[in-house]
Amino acid sequence: ATGDIEKGKEIASGVCAGCHNVDGNSAIPIYPILAGQEAGYTAKQLNDFKVVDGEETKRSSEIMAPMVAMLSADDMTNVAAYYAQQTPKAGVASDESLLEEGKRLYQGGNLEDDIPACSSCHSPNGQGIPPHYPRIDGQHPGYTFSQLHAFRQGTRKNDTNDAMQMIVSRMSEHEMKAVSEYIATL
Ligand code: HEM
Ligand code: HEM
Repeated sequence: ATGDIEKGKEIASGVCAGCHNVDGNSAIPIYPILAGQEAGYTAKQLNDFKVVDGEETKRSSEIMAPMVAMLSADDMTNVAAYYAQQTPKAGVASDESLLEEGKRLYQGGNLEDDIPACSSCHSPNGQGIPPHYPRIDGQHPGYTFSQLHAFRQGTRKNDTNDAMQMIVSRMSEHEMKAVSEYIATL
């Protein structure tokens, strides 16, 4: 579905801007950068945050659940189309000492523990492979780390083929931290 970018901008400029900024370039590390993300992925995330009576939420977030409760399916498509048009700012690592190790994991995985290379799905430059594999380049390391945790704890279980849940179950805290730092620099 193609969204109405003008209508999407109206939504993004409202309550969303308080955390994600008007152009989706959140300045606060716990709030994800949404600028430049593929529209289909963003719309899917908004839908997955929805709490539907009697159903288990695929992506549980106390903050985002009330936000998406206010949005119609068209609103989600429109705001996603708007964010997709925005240019993401370059990311910054918070711990440069972990970059080398993070790069190795990202590009080559860890054969010993059966961790595949992140680049195989998210592409070598982190820009993702539409429609299923999101771009993750330049993201705040704190947010990326929190998502790896969420996949591990099962509060996020919306990946199409359970790849993320399986991968993080094999990763150490240290590896998750290192790869999150490297991804911020892509
Ligand atoms: C995550 C959109 C309002 C805080 C997300 C994601 C999207 C999104 C698409 C998922 C990003 C990804 O998967 O990379 C929106 C829209 C909003 C809105 C369209 C307005 C209707 C807010 C507000 C806050 C907020 C006001 C802060 C009070 C967060 C947080 C996450 C998140 C903490 C990460 C949730 C998690 O841990 O899974 N938002 N957002 N958002 N947003 Fe928002
Ligand atoms: C989503 C990191 C490997 C498939 C994500 C997200 C992160 C991430 C942070 C969430 C993005 C966001 O919230 O905006 C990583 C890292 C990897 C890795 C660090 C290597 C250790 C892989 C591999 C695959 C894969 C090898 C495919 C087999 C996916 C899919 C999603 C995703 C399908 C989207 C889930 C959804 O629809 O919500 N990944 N990934 N990832 N990843 Fe990975």
